[in-house]
Amino acid sequence: MRTHIHEVTDLDKRIIQRAEPYLKHLKETGIVLGRSMRKAAAVCAQEAENAVRDTLERASGADRGVFGADTENHTAAGKKNYAVITGASSGIGLEFAKRLSLEGYPLILIARRRDRLEVLRRELGTECLLLPADLARREDLIRLCEDLVGRRIDIFINNAGFGVSGPFVATEVAREIGMVDVNVTAQHVLFKYILHRMEAEGGGAILNVASSAGLFPAGPYMSGYYATKAYMASLTRGVAEELRQAKSPVYVGCLCPGPVNTEFNDVADVSFALPGISAEECVDYALRMMARRQTVIIPGRQIRAAVIGQRLIPTALTVRITAAQQKKKMEGPAGKLASEQTIS
Ligand SMILES: NC(=O)c1ccc[n+]([C@@H]2O[C@H](COP(=O)([O-])OP(=O)(O)OC[C@H]3O[C@@H](n4cnc5c(N)ncnc54)[C@H](OP(=O)(O)O)[C@@H]3O)[C@@H](O)[C@H]2O)c1
Repeated sequence: MRTHIHEVTDLDKRIIQRAEPYLKHLKETGIVLGRSMRKAAAVCAQEAENAVRDTLERASGADRGVFGADTENHTAAGKKNYAVITGASSGIGLEFAKRLSLEGYPLILIARRRDRLEVLRRELGTECLLLPADLARREDLIRLCEDLVGRRIDIFINNAGFGVSGPFVATEVAREIGMVDVNVTAQHVLFKYILHRMEAEGGGAILNVASSAGLFPAGPYMSGYYATKAYMASLTRGVAEELRQAKSPVYVGCLCPGPVNTEFNDVADVSFALPGISAEECVDYALRMMARRQTVIIPGRQIRAAVIGQRLIPTALTVRITAAQQKKKMEGPAGKLASEQTIS
């Protein structure tokens, strides 16, 4: 049973104290957070108190499930909390939206192309809140965090991202920094913000969509993209271990697909060297592995074998083989020769 807590408890104070250095750092690095973010901390604190009560009430040891204690609770009552998906207008994110809508989650969908999100909402016919945002823009990122305040989240799919290909000396720096803003900065900030909230609320699941590219030592001719994905893979693995040691009720995982047939290639201006799997196959596998609380999820047998295989050969050789694969991608039907690469 839920009760409203009006006074500030010790738990509230601890949560707000923990959030303070993080908020301070974001401000110093140029992400200015408004009052709503502080309100978020207060909401978290209250929800944390509720979560503690729920846990005590259910101290009989009921199975918590991958998506947290509260999800189970709400499922039993026939109501689930939000599943939030960034990059929901296409590809892997769109497929997550379809699957999670079928599983009964109300959705919050994020991407730049509002028209695409509106079509998806009509197609799904289930509860969908659209929060269009350009995650490369700090002000949109802040507004998104503020818009999520007070909305209880069971699942967060941190998916929006894109690639830039070409030799590092030739690629356009603005485009690459845009990629770092979306693939690293926005994913990092949202990961941390949602994790704070889920910890306070007593459970939830976060899936960071990185790439198998992040599990290889380097990716010549797509070097920046590989580096952004290595960042998210490493971050997720580290945080997952911290959460395991702290016996956190929150699950975090990292999806590391190889080629998936989406709009990714058109955006990155490449074509795959290996045959791609479908977004349906990718998401189906991801959801099954999330249910097993797997930290690093690699859909597709071929790419799983490649990731394991590369550990057995010298790093320099792996990098050369990857370079050859990347060159093939740029010279394929959708790609342009490296020397005439234009990034659009
Ligand atoms: N396809 C693959 O082979 C593959 C393999 C490994 C990993 N991945 C990763 O999977 C994720 C999804 O990619 P995908 O394959 O599904 O590609 P996709 O079909 O091109 O979808 C990318 C999604 O990200 C969104 N997005 C891109 N830039 C954004 C921005 N600035 N602000 C907000 N949203 C933005 C796009 O929405 P809008 O354009 O409407 O903003 C779109 O919904 C990416 O992180 C990608 O790196 C893909």
